[in-house]
Amino acid sequence: MTQDKLKELLQDMSLEEKVGQMIQLPADVLTGGGLVTGPTGTTQLTDEQVGMAGSVLGIEGAEKICELQKRQMEKQPHHIPMLFMLDVINGFETIFPIPLALGCTFSPEMAEEACAAAAKEATSDGLHVTFSPMLDLVRDARWGRVMESPGEDPYLNSEMARAMVRGYQGDLHAKDKMAACLKHFAGYGAPDGGRDYDNVELSERTLMEDYLPAYEAAVKAGCRLAMTSFNTLNRIPSSGNKWLMRKILREKMGFDGVVISDYSAVEEMVFHGIAADAREAAKLAVEAGVDIDMVSNAYAGHLTELVRSGEVPEKLVDEAVWRILQLKNDLGLFEEPLRVVDSSEAEKVLLCGDFRQKARETAAASFVLLKNEGVLPLREDGRKNSGAEKNAAPTGSIAWIGPYVDNHEIYGAWSFPRNKEEIVTVKQGVEAKGLPGMAFAQGCYLMDKGCATKYGQITNPSDEQADLWMEEALRLAESSDQVVLCLGEHKDLSGEAGSRTSLGIPEGQMELLRKVRQVNPNIVTVLFCGRPLAVGEIAELSRALLVVWMPGTEGGNAIADVLFGDRIPQGKLSMTFPRSLGQVPVYYNHFPTGRPNPPHEIHLFRNGYLDQVTAPLYPFGYGLSYTEFAYSEVKLDRREMKAGERITASVTVTNTGDISGVETVQLYLRDPSASVARPVRSLKGFRKVTLAPGESREVRFVIEEPMLRFYDIHMDYVSEPGRFEVYIGGSSDTENRAEFVLG
Ligand code: NOJ
Repeated sequence: MTQDKLKELLQDMSLEEKVGQMIQLPADVLTGGGLVTGPTGTTQLTDEQVGMAGSVLGIEGAEKICELQKRQMEKQPHHIPMLFMLDVINGFETIFPIPLALGCTFSPEMAEEACAAAAKEATSDGLHVTFSPMLDLVRDARWGRVMESPGEDPYLNSEMARAMVRGYQGDLHAKDKMAACLKHFAGYGAPDGGRDYDNVELSERTLMEDYLPAYEAAVKAGCRLAMTSFNTLNRIPSSGNKWLMRKILREKMGFDGVVISDYSAVEEMVFHGIAADAREAAKLAVEAGVDIDMVSNAYAGHLTELVRSGEVPEKLVDEAVWRILQLKNDLGLFEEPLRVVDSSEAEKVLLCGDFRQKARETAAASFVLLKNEGVLPLREDGRKNSGAEKNAAPTGSIAWIGPYVDNHEIYGAWSFPRNKEEIVTVKQGVEAKGLPGMAFAQGCYLMDKGCATKYGQITNPSDEQADLWMEEALRLAESSDQVVLCLGEHKDLSGEAGSRTSLGIPEGQMELLRKVRQVNPNIVTVLFCGRPLAVGEIAELSRALLVVWMPGTEGGNAIADVLFGDRIPQGKLSMTFPRSLGQVPVYYNHFPTGRPNPPHEIHLFRNGYLDQVTAPLYPFGYGLSYTEFAYSEVKLDRREMKAGERITASVTVTNTGDISGVETVQLYLRDPSASVARPVRSLKGFRKVTLAPGESREVRFVIEEPMLRFYDIHMDYVSEPGRFEVYIGGSSDTENRAEFVLG
């Protein structure tokens, strides 16, 4: 539709109709079912309001969506099509690794392809908008939603943000593209105590410098929607925060898309204590520039009357509706409201071989090898490039034990596969390799009896069964050359409403590990999780430890690929693994204190704890390969620069092992003396290099003055002259460093 026609449409709409566009229905209003993730507000919608609603969330299925679209459009005075939105977070029908794992690939290209695949599948199913990417910077592993974020670093998150938006949206007009929605604006990744839906206390400087860049990167990449966050910032909930939504998001960042509230967040401002009732909440939200009220019904109940009474200028409603209509228009919905491919085409798309292959590669690239005492890969010919027989792991009988060995539920929260059988278990992945000597045992229940996931209490039907499983597992472990334990937390212990006060795996699984260790110490542990866990004892009792997150549809194949050496582990942690829960929040880019302490030592009257060092168990950026990489010293082509100039920093990376490998070379900078304290180091670049055994490669990074900017003492975004440190290595704790001066 032309812009003139669109304007005519807006002018022709009644106030009720316009407010309708600003209402988002929960699925159950139209379908009688669907995922309910919170209370809806106090207003009961009338049939007329339901008929005029501009969008709905949580409905899947091309046929159902088409039927509802037709039905709703008939009710609309101007037959305006609805937007169908959904949380497409880890891929759609082909499930990709969780976003935290995507972060560990350090591969924006892979993230882009994963999102492009998700968009292709989701649009074939009739969807128009995904509530992704989630770009909340995360530092507290208790918070279940860390699984949805690319991780703890502003630079990495920004790279991922751009890639994900590109993947979902492309040019948006194409039928296999969908609109992306950045969330949760802003700062939702820092809830008090790691508790979901809790508030956030951040200095403006930390907000600006660490938390906002990834959202801004998504805005600059053209992301079409933004979602408000549940939390308060500076005591103001985002859905009513005019400064945040208008001044920062729209004015400073230049966002001109649709702002949608989070689920019920508009009316929840009453509970936050900044609105007396839903009516006042609606007024605050519309003034803050929230265009769509997701399911709280505060707009439905009060916005028309607020405009009629003159308390809210109609202009605000017009602006919001204009943005919504623009989005519908750019998606091509006015020309083609049933924007789906026909079912035979859809069948070709969903779970197609190409997407499965991508999911497999991406999952394998996201696994992080935390420890390996020469036991991996499991198969000698997994070292076929090497010819180094002396290091080769013995090929022999392998016992695959644990509740994740034959489990299809290895995908992240927000995925609802239509057929779980499509998800490749570890057992299936191993069997597909066709190797002799493989045996499988359950070992124990996934959860301890009486514990609960977010969806309820775990009962575990029989204690006798548990004893039998344990006996069988120990027999098998004892009689095998090698044990692979597949352990971890339940998938429903992370994601929304998935916060925890412990970072361990269930006691039953620990008991299994301890007992197996007594009969066979040759243990490789494969760990499934939606967050960093405190894995000290697991690492100690295992000879190798591979974190596989929630790997998705091709998880079992990808795990078998990596364990047998058909693919080499290459993931690097996108979020720090703490030594203990007590260390949380713990992140690499923290600030120096006035009583610095070597991170691996405890000294009285110095920064840290009495009973544990401050260094985490595995820092951001850490991850092993089956080979090793040596770094030369950092070389700088000059030692001084001025604004407008550049320094090239380089290292030569050598594969010193006897097998090919992929290394993620990371550049960190530090400003050791500035008008405000600067992080001990900050990631400013990374490159992935594939090196054959013995091969060396020079890796270069260009350093320019804008990379040195920060919010100074006056909150101006500037660089300050002085000395800078450059670190280049394979992890955030590298000590490989050089220095230069900014004049
Ligand atoms: C609440 C969550 O916070 C948000 O991330 C999600 O997109 C909405 N519910 C819709 O499901």
